[in-house]
Amino acid sequence: MNQIQLCDMLLEDGLNKWLGKIHKGDTLELMARMPAQSIDTIVTSPPYNLKQSTGNGMKNGNGGKWPKAELINGYAGYDDCMPHGEYVAWQRECLNAMMRLLKPTGAIFYNHKWRVQGGLLQDRADIVAGFPVRQIIIWRRKGGINFNPGYFLPTYEVVYLITKPGFKLAPKANALGDVWEVSQESDNPHPAPFPPKLAQQCIGSTTGEVILDPFMGSGTTAIAAETEGRQWIGIEKSKDYCLLAKKRLTAHRELSA
Ligand SMILES: C[S@@+](CC[C@H](N)C(=O)[O-])C[C@H]1O[C@@H](n2cnc3c(N)ncnc32)[C@H](O)[C@@H]1O
Repeated sequence: MNQIQLCDMLLEDGLNKWLGKIHKGDTLELMARMPAQSIDTIVTSPPYNLKQSTGNGMKNGNGGKWPKAELINGYAGYDDCMPHGEYVAWQRECLNAMMRLLKPTGAIFYNHKWRVQGGLLQDRADIVAGFPVRQIIIWRRKGGINFNPGYFLPTYEVVYLITKPGFKLAPKANALGDVWEVSQESDNPHPAPFPPKLAQQCIGSTTGEVILDPFMGSGTTAIAAETEGRQWIGIEKSKDYCLLAKKRLTAHRELSA
């Protein structure tokens, strides 16, 4: 009995150090230091490796008809340009790290985007193969950076709901359905942010108390977690984006005070 209590306390102590903070560093290194089975919900959008895209002008840098699209410049401190196989292996390693952190009732909302590569659809099945994907939510976001005459303008991204067996939605969340219409974010200097509503809808659909975003960017998941009254942990590699997240969180807290 004592021993179990001691373990619980250690788990709590371990996690407390992480809560409510933006941790600057490499996501795999930092996730490896967090206690196993300590997180309820993960909401995240990894870099999409878009500089390797052939179908939308990203690879040759002209951006199709959107030459000024922010993502053409990539991220601060991250070039988004891995060889595809390496990228898939990295993302699978990240998902394994996330699964280790999830409680037996936890879930990951993993946002990604399908694309056409060399004229053929490349869905992200190679990344999620073998992980317990329970559902694919369509995030209908309207226009994307793509005016290729060979196929229709993509208007959605996906959110893979990857779950541990004990995961259940919050009461009534099931009625939201699996197609979410959420406009893109326009008021954020980060090149690829979540719209706050998307992160909030993921978090609000669960009863999870502790929310992690291992690719925190401008801090949208943290803001959404606070709006939903949950605790959060953020990891981000770029110092610029850590500072941006801090600034956005401070502004959010002032507005909601
Ligand atoms: C798609 S963005 C996330 C945007 C975020 N959802 C928001 O609302 O701002 C992906 C983020 O992952 C970060 N990143 C890339 N590699 C990383 C790594 N190894 N460890 C931690 N963060 C990383 C990038 O700097 C970028 O901000």
